[in-house]
Amino acid sequence: MNEALHETARTMVSRPRGILAADESIGTMSSRLEKAGVEVSAENRRAYREMLVTTPDLSRGISGIIMSDETFNQKMSDGNTFPLAVHNLGILPGIKVDTGAKPLALSPDEKITEGLDGLRERLKDYVSRGARFAKWRAVIIIGDGLPTRNALHANAHALARYAALCQENWCVPIVEPEVLMDGDHTIERCADVTRATLEEVMAQLELAGVDFAGTVLKPNMVVPGKKSGQQASPEEVAEATVSVLRAALPDSLAGVAFLSGGQSPEEATANLAAMQKHDTPWPLTFSFGRALVDPALKAWHGEASLIKEGQQALFSRVEPNSAVLVNA
Ligand code: G3H
Repeated sequence: MNEALHETARTMVSRPRGILAADESIGTMSSRLEKAGVEVSAENRRAYREMLVTTPDLSRGISGIIMSDETFNQKMSDGNTFPLAVHNLGILPGIKVDTGAKPLALSPDEKITEGLDGLRERLKDYVSRGARFAKWRAVIIIGDGLPTRNALHANAHALARYAALCQENWCVPIVEPEVLMDGDHTIERCADVTRATLEEVMAQLELAGVDFAGTVLKPNMVVPGKKSGQQASPEEVAEATVSVLRAALPDSLAGVAFLSGGQSPEEATANLAAMQKHDTPWPLTFSFGRALVDPALKAWHGEASLIKEGQQALFSRVEPNSAVLVNA
């Protein structure tokens, strides 16, 4: 029964392609537009996403696109819905289904991701309109005494309930537990917290009966905190990341698609390339947001006459990431 899910999951992580995360919430997308000097409106958020999606040859390096609810409900200039347009390009349509990370009760410096209420019905609706996979992002914060066991457990439990509901509805879950780069922690501390996070997530997925072969994990790379002053080479990042993944993940997982998490586009690509030198039971690919789209937003900045420039900027980030997978 799960063969269709397995097939979709394998397609999502099959070399030389990765997943484009274009699922910023209305709030996040609006502030990115504002920062780029683009008037904030639903139409400009739509036009920006249409510019990304219609990039020539995008399907050579992109297997799936994660969309927000707003985009999923919007139409392209030709009248097609976004999920249909994406499907017609030979790319799998995906949908972000969490409703955001909120303060964790009694531990307000930590976050718990919400969105489980009504999720079964929402998933049925998204799948009937073309969604083949979904995404849920949990946020884990490193700090003094953080993360707490409660934050790890609560977020892992929510991820597992989400993933089980996805599979019940023939939708591949992207499970995204992001240990944030913010802070002055060392790479060793990031490794310890990432390992504890992934072990808890895998335990909860197993308890919930989630089929690992129909699941894609979207983790952070193991890197030093942004304010640590520590530098780590791509080889060090790859070594630390792969050894955490090996310790925490079952071999049966369909694949791993990394988030970029605030690394520069070039850093994210160099780290991804170094990972490919390691032998792993799962394909290691990318599901970047900012590291793919930031240059495109800058180049386009809301001008209909600059669509080509925006698309070239996106392609100029998709291509090197795809190339490191080809040469693996
Ligand atoms: O939820 C976050 C996105 O899916 C990945 O974004 O690559 O900018 O961290 P990022």
